[in-house]
Amino acid sequence: MPVRRLPERLGGPGFDLRLARVDDAPAIDVAVRENTEHLRPWMPWIAEEPIGLERRRAMLARWEEDWEGGGDLRAVIHAGGELVGICGLHRRIGPDALEIGYWVDARHLGNGYASTAARLLTVAGLSEPGVHHVEIHHDKANERSGRVPRRLGYRFVGEEPDEVSAPGEVGINCIWRASEGTWDPPAGPGDSA
Ligand SMILES: CC(C)(COP(=O)(O)OP(=O)(O)OC[C@H]1O[C@@H](n2cnc3c(N)ncnc32)[C@H](O)[C@@H]1OP(=O)(O)O)[C@@H](O)C(=O)NCCC(=O)NCCS
Repeated sequence: MPVRRLPERLGGPGFDLRLARVDDAPAIDVAVRENTEHLRPWMPWIAEEPIGLERRRAMLARWEEDWEGGGDLRAVIHAGGELVGICGLHRRIGPDALEIGYWVDARHLGNGYASTAARLLTVAGLSEPGVHHVEIHHDKANERSGRVPRRLGYRFVGEEPDEVSAPGEVGINCIWRASEGTWDPPAGPGDSA
């Protein structure tokens, strides 16, 4: 049976999410370097940065391979042709669910990019066969991240203790869920996409 892959591209002209490829390494490298302090409070992996271009290419090659085999989608977010962030649709929360992750370049905050990306990923995720729900998780101290599922009409599932893995965290994981059949996507940017 052919491998069922998550979508390679979502969105449309002006705003799209596209599978991150090895050729994106230089642009991602610059974006991560410029956003290191913005991301440090919330993204555990930033502690490893800067990893350099060679390791970045190797990492992107692994990401591509994972996606090709039916695994996670890690995508670059472009708005007006510019890389404005990275997002992902991950298979790490069980066989019938997907989890969304995102970060947006500090110069582009408050434009709805995280919300629009998460909205496109939610619609795509829930249309995957066998996927019953899509979740967004964030540390309780990361209020800005929590506003994304709230404004997208996700249901708040609850809180659970978690390890503190980045310096801004308090170690409480907040879980939000959009379920097949009950999630009502709000109107918003990306509708025509
Ligand atoms: C959390 C994060 C991704 C939010 O990114 P963002 O693109 O600024 O988020 P959005 O713009 O979609 O939503 C945030 C605010 O912008 C506003 N907004 C949304 N759409 C908008 C639009 N089209 N025009 C103008 N403003 C808009 C929203 O009103 C929202 O604020 P509010 O809910 O208080 O009203 C970003 O702050 C970030 O990268 N943080 C560091 C990494 C991180 O924490 N990642 C998540 C880990 S769980």
